[in-house]
Amino acid sequence: MKFFIDTANLEEIKEANDLGILDGVTTNPSLMAKEGITGEQNILDHYVTICNIVDGPVSAEVISTDFAGIIREGEHLASLHNNIVVKVPMILEGIKAIKYFSSKGIKTNCTLIFSAGQAILAAKAGATYISPFLGRLDDISVNGLDLIAQIRLIYDNYAYNTQILAASVRHPMHIINCAELRSDVMTGPLKAIKALANHPLTTSGLETFLADYAKGNA
Ligand code: E4P
Repeated sequence: MKFFIDTANLEEIKEANDLGILDGVTTNPSLMAKEGITGEQNILDHYVTICNIVDGPVSAEVISTDFAGIIREGEHLASLHNNIVVKVPMILEGIKAIKYFSSKGIKTNCTLIFSAGQAILAAKAGATYISPFLGRLDDISVNGLDLIAQIRLIYDNYAYNTQILAASVRHPMHIINCAELRSDVMTGPLKAIKALANHPLTTSGLETFLADYAKGNA
């Protein structure tokens, strides 16, 4: 399973990249705003900065909601750097735009997926990735992981090439569960990725090894 980090924070992106296990980055307008990145040119520059840090797909989201606007914005985003994946919302105008981008060889990430029907439409339009938002479904008492399993089954039934990018991942168990369900990619916060490394028996075992070494070499 590929690991993407879901942030626009450059320090976190660098830290994850330095771990050597980072495959890509996802952002959204809220994550950009959280880092204080505002204004069209600053946002575009920030995408390029991220692309120059991480050698992998970087999702950059359009803010237009009409076909012509999505195409105009998406083509401009895609021209910024080879790593850019145009993130398009799951609306009918977005589906039309994904079909267009797909015919032009521009990679897309269909975002705000909350149902299997939406995932089918996006795959038929030729989306490179779809982003089902696990955590936000969990937030309303709907099991987000069930949706990942359902989409996996459907995509396998028809050998769709669209990759499932499990999004809105909130904690390490989400990551492990996504791997069990054969999600192609997960995107989550640095905290959840780093938490995968923790185990109390690793901590205590290492303490013992180091203490025993120190005793023998005192
Ligand atoms: C996906 O690409 C989104 O950026 C993201 O995963 C949303 O996560 P949230 O529900 O934690 O905001």
